[in-house]
Amino acid sequence: MIARYKLLLTIAAVALLQVSAAYGAAVLPQYSHDKTLGVGSCASSLCHGAVETWRDSNVFQNEYVTWSRSDKHARAYAVLLNDKSKAIAKKLALPKPAHESDLCLDCHTHNPKPAQRTQGFQIADGIACESCHGPADRWVKSHVEPGATHANNVARGMYPTEDDVSRARLCLSCHLGTKDKFVTHKIMSAGHPRMSFELDTFTQIGPAHFRIDADWQRRKGSWNEVRAWAIGQAVASQELLTLLQGPRGRDGLFPELVLFDCHSCHHPMADVRNTAARVGAGPGFVRLNDANLLMLRQIARRVVPADAAVFAQHVERLHKSVASGSDALAQARAVEQLIAAMIPKISSHKFSGEDLKAVMLGLIDDGLTGQYSDYQGAEQAVMAMQSVADLLGRQNLMRTQPLKPTIKRLLATVSQDEKYQPAAFTKVLRELKTNVETGTGK
Ligand code: HEC
Ligand code: HEC
Ligand code: HEC
Ligand code: HEC
Repeated sequence: MIARYKLLLTIAAVALLQVSAAYGAAVLPQYSHDKTLGVGSCASSLCHGAVETWRDSNVFQNEYVTWSRSDKHARAYAVLLNDKSKAIAKKLALPKPAHESDLCLDCHTHNPKPAQRTQGFQIADGIACESCHGPADRWVKSHVEPGATHANNVARGMYPTEDDVSRARLCLSCHLGTKDKFVTHKIMSAGHPRMSFELDTFTQIGPAHFRIDADWQRRKGSWNEVRAWAIGQAVASQELLTLLQGPRGRDGLFPELVLFDCHSCHHPMADVRNTAARVGAGPGFVRLNDANLLMLRQIARRVVPADAAVFAQHVERLHKSVASGSDALAQARAVEQLIAAMIPKISSHKFSGEDLKAVMLGLIDDGLTGQYSDYQGAEQAVMAMQSVADLLGRQNLMRTQPLKPTIKRLLATVSQDEKYQPAAFTKVLRELKTNVETGTGK
C-alpha cells in the first residue's frame, strides 16, 4: 500500500516537473550563462536603430530609438544616481553608493556576473535589450540569417518574451521581486516607492516597440490580452506565496511586511474602515496583500469552474491561518500548488466573449460586495477592467466607447493610494454596472 502511494507521488512529481519545464522555466537573462554583448550590438541603423520603421521588415527596426527615447528602462540605472537613491542608500547605511550596490543594480540595470560580460557591456546602459531578450552571444548572428526561426533563436539563448508565463516571470522578477532580489519593507521605509504591476497594462504602456499582427502570430503563436492579464495574476500570486514561505518572508521577529497590504497598517486611525472583516477573520488584523489572489479567484471561475470554489476556500483558509498564526506556511503551499496546476489551464484557455463579459461583471460584483475595500485590490481590479473592456471593444463584443468616461472616473478613485475611499470607488462601480448592463452591451 505504502509502495503504491509512493509510486503515485513519484508520478505526480514527474508530471509537475514536466509542467514546470514547459511553463516559464527559461533561465532569466540576468542568470544566463551566455555572454552579454551590450546595447551597441543591437543599435546600428541597419539593425534595430533605424529612426523610421522599415517597410519590408517583419519587425519595426526602430526598437532602439523607442527604447532610448521613451522607455523608462533606459533610465533605470540613472535613477540610482539621483538624490532619492542617495537618500535611500544613506538611510540603509549601504557600504557602497546605490549605483554600485548589487542590491539596487539587480533590478535597475542588467547585472550579470562579471564572467558573462563582454567589452561592449556597460552597466550604465540600464535595462537594455539583452535584459529582456537574453544575452545575445549565441544568437546575434543566427537571428538574422535567412531561414532564422524564433524556436532556433530561443534554443540559442533568446528569452521567450512572447510566452505569457515566461514574460510574467521576467517582468515580475523586478516588478515584484524573487527570492534572489526583493524590495523589503525596510527599503521601502527608506524611500523606495511601492511596487504595483499588471502584465497587460504594463506591456502596453512600455511603450511597446513591437506590433502584434498576423505575421507576429505566425512566427510566435497566439496573443490575447486577457490571457496575459490572467497569467500575470497567477504568476504574481505564486511568487508572493513563494516569498512568504522562504527566508525573505521574515524580517527579524516579524513577517516581511511588504507581503501584506500596505494600507492595512498605513491609514489614519480615525478613518475606521473595518476592512479586515472582508476576509472573514474578524476586525483588526493585517491582511496578506491578496490583490492578485482576488483577481485569480475571478479567473478560476471561468477557467476551472469545477475547482473555483475549492480555490476560494483555500484562499480564505490562508487568510485565517495568517491571522491566527497557525499553519500559515502549509496553507500558502497548498494555494501555491493549486495555482501551479491552474497555470497550464489558463495558458490553453480560449477566452471567449462570454468569458470576458463574465469576468467584467464578476469583478464589478466583487467590488460591490466590498472585496476591494483594500486599496491594492481596487487598483488591480481597475487595471483588469480596463484590459477586459479594451479587448471586448476591439473584438466588437460590446460597445465599450460609452464605458470609457466611467472607467476613467474609476481610475481617478485609485490614482492616489493614500486618498483611496472605498465608498467613492463602489459608487462609480455601481454606475459602471448599470452602463454594462443597459444599452452598451451587444
Ligand atoms: C526587486 C527589484 C528592485 C530592487 C531590488 C530595487 N528596485 Fe528600485 N525600483 C524597482 C521598480 C520596478 C521600480 C519602478 C516602480 C514603479 O514605477 O512601478 C523602482 C523604482 C525606484 C525609484 C523611483 C524611480 C522614479 O522614477 O522615481 C527609485 C529612486 C529606486 N527604485 C531606487 C532604488 C534603490 C536605491 C535600490 C537599492 C537600495 C532599489 N531601487 C532596489 C525595482 C527595484
Ligand atoms: C523590458 C523588457 C524589454 C526590453 C528592455 C526590450 N524588449 Fe524587445 N520586446 C519585449 C517584449 C515583451 C516583446 C514582445 C514579445 C515578443 O515579440 O517576444 C518584445 C519584442 C521585440 C521584438 C520583436 C518584434 C516581433 O515582431 O517579433 C524586437 C525586434 C525587439 N523586441 C527588439 C528589442 C531591442 C532591439 C531592444 C533594445 C533596444 C529591446 N527589444 C528591449 C521586451 C523588451
Ligand atoms: C531588470 C529589471 C526589470 C525587468 C526585467 C523589467 N522591468 Fe520594468 N522597470 C524596472 C525598473 C527599475 C523601472 C523603473 C525605472 C524608472 O523609474 O526610471 C521599470 C519601469 C517600468 C515601467 C514604467 C512604469 C511607470 O511607472 O511609468 C513599465 C511600463 C515597465 N517597467 C514594464 C515592464 C514590463 C512589461 C516588463 C517585462 C516585459 C518589465 N518591465 C521588465 C525594472 C525592470
Ligand atoms: C504590519 C503593518 C505594516 C504594513 C503591512 C506595512 N507597513 Fe510600512 N510601516 C509600518 C511601521 C510600523 C513603520 C514604522 C513607522 C515609524 O517608524 O514611524 C512603517 C514605515 C513605513 C514607511 C516609512 C514611513 C516613516 O514614517 O518612516 C514607509 C514609506 C512604508 N512603511 C511603506 C509601506 C509600504 C509601501 C507597504 C506595503 C508594501 C507597507 N509599508 C506595509 C507598518 C507597516
